[in-house]
Amino acid sequence: MLLAGKKVVVVGGSSGIGLATAELAKSEGAEVIIASRNAEKLNAAAAKLGVKAIQADVSSDDSVANLFRQCGTVDHVVITAAQLKTGPFKTVSMDDVRSTMDGKFWGAWRCARAAEIRTGGSLTLVSGFLSVRPRPNSAIVGAANGAIESLTRALALELAPVRVNCVSPGIIDTPIRAAMPEAARREMLAKTAAALPVGRVGQGEDIARQILAFMTNGFATGSIVYLDGGALVT
Ligand SMILES: NC(=O)c1ccc[n+]([C@@H]2O[C@H](COP(=O)([O-])OP(=O)(O)OC[C@H]3O[C@@H](n4cnc5c(N)ncnc54)[C@H](OP(=O)(O)O)[C@@H]3O)[C@@H](O)[C@H]2O)c1
Repeated sequence: MLLAGKKVVVVGGSSGIGLATAELAKSEGAEVIIASRNAEKLNAAAAKLGVKAIQADVSSDDSVANLFRQCGTVDHVVITAAQLKTGPFKTVSMDDVRSTMDGKFWGAWRCARAAEIRTGGSLTLVSGFLSVRPRPNSAIVGAANGAIESLTRALALELAPVRVNCVSPGIIDTPIRAAMPEAARREMLAKTAAALPVGRVGQGEDIARQILAFMTNGFATGSIVYLDGGALVT
């Protein structure tokens, strides 16, 4: 078991990529703590996996400080939390773009500052393909992802010997698109799958496996891995 005796915190662990990461870490023998805002969803996920839950909102300084106070010193921290509000650059509201940055970028920043990570441990951030493959109406998400990738490189130096890495997912089939009409969501996923060399979209576990590699490979720091089923070469 690759994580026996290790304590792993997954912020955003009640859903999607975070949930898959928590499940994989648990199956590798780690003591796992998951954190997110919605207590009902969080507790249900924690009960299903047999892990601990701590309610937290990464957009609040106090909430993040409280989360990591309760966690104590840990081995690995993974931050997948994000709720993205985007729209056409000229008309998207400043409240929406601020809240996107506040959750995704400043959320990662707050967690990275508050976490007490043991020597030999790691911090993994999650960016996303829009940093390098922008799409109309998503400028703020691309900007947040790019900022996370820069932060990763900076923290790999400043937090050493703690290792800091980032995975940038392509299209992954998770509840992040729950607000989309189901037929449109399915059509988008099918079109994306057909255009990719691997012939499918990603699953949470595909990204979780890379995060596990970052946790367990002592030579990985300052790395940004683009894991997108080949989207970058199409
Ligand atoms: N899925 C994709 O196609 C894709 C592609 C590129 C990048 N990404 C990135 O991958 C990461 C994970 O995405 P996902 O697809 O796994 O999303 P998801 O299924 O929607 O999960 C997001 C998780 O973050 C939590 N969360 C959201 N805002 C939070 C906050 N302010 N404080 C604490 N927890 C918060 C959510 O729970 P609560 O709502 O209960 O707080 C949930 O547990 C995100 O950074 C996303 O941008 C995803």
